Amino acid sequence: MTSHNVDYQKILNQIGQEFADKPRSGKVASYIPELAKVPADKYGMHLYDLNGNNYCFGDSNERFSIQSISKVFTLSLAMKVVGDQLWNRVGVEPSGDPFNSLSQLENDSGIPRNPYINAGAMVVADVLVSNFTNPKAALLAFLHEITGDTSIDFDPVVAASERSEGYRNYAMVNYLKSFGNIENSVEDVLDFYFHQCSISMSCRDLSNAFIIFANDGKVMGSDREFLTGRQVKRINALMQTCGFYDEAGEFSFEVGLPGKSGVGGGIVAVHPERFAVTVWSPPLNPKGNSALGMASLERLTTLTGFSIF
Ligand code: DON
Repeated sequence: MTSHNVDYQKILNQIGQEFADKPRSGKVASYIPELAKVPADKYGMHLYDLNGNNYCFGDSNERFSIQSISKVFTLSLAMKVVGDQLWNRVGVEPSGDPFNSLSQLENDSGIPRNPYINAGAMVVADVLVSNFTNPKAALLAFLHEITGDTSIDFDPVVAASERSEGYRNYAMVNYLKSFGNIENSVEDVLDFYFHQCSISMSCRDLSNAFIIFANDGKVMGSDREFLTGRQVKRINALMQTCGFYDEAGEFSFEVGLPGKSGVGGGIVAVHPERFAVTVWSPPLNPKGNSALGMASLERLTTLTGFSIF
């Protein structure tokens, strides 16, 4: 794939410089106490293209809490393990509601709208707890395999911190269980969920992992198919329509790529057939997505002309 003479490094430098001195809008997440400690001025970006080239600036090698970005990895594993049966328990429609909303579950008989809102991610977590003897080890093994980096790990302090204030997520899993859409104990599902959210990865690590979603399910330089083309199409489609909760329309409108955010301030976006790109800036907008991250990706697709639209 040619990049039509687009100089990604020059464009990334330009983005970094454009935003360097601008006042930062948004607030660092504080409902998970450990996340509140992360300095608000962290800022980095890493782009990995399908020619195997890396481009970056700023704090792109520093690991941070990936939070909801982990939902793309758990969905990938669940799709591998149970296939289309998954869609009997979770939908594929945007919710138009905040990531942690419980309200739609009542009218929808406990079937979450999609796998990227918390309710859907809890059902996906339940599927993994049911299908692996050690689901946490299986998730790490998947990440180690697709990145080739065995140092990627959970942050137990962040997991414990989220658990200590996790009243809403406890309510959610109990509520799902009352509809019969959770097989395992509430504690086991949440232990897995809090750990998946606590995984520490850098922008570089995340772009390296997400390149499989730009490369038909294969890692770079290998023919081994971790996910089928059909699975990748669906995972990307869900990122496009549901990856930013009640801001999915805005992200599509401004950036025009499938992507996924986390309350640690990370956003990963994928250009199928071109690149995976990650940006990290902790202050979040009112919808829980990195404010500077969204602005930076808007500049990337505007300056390169590479969106999917
Ligand atoms: O469940 C939670 O509240 C967090 N562990 C994850 C939320 C999150 O990252 C939402 N995304 N923007």
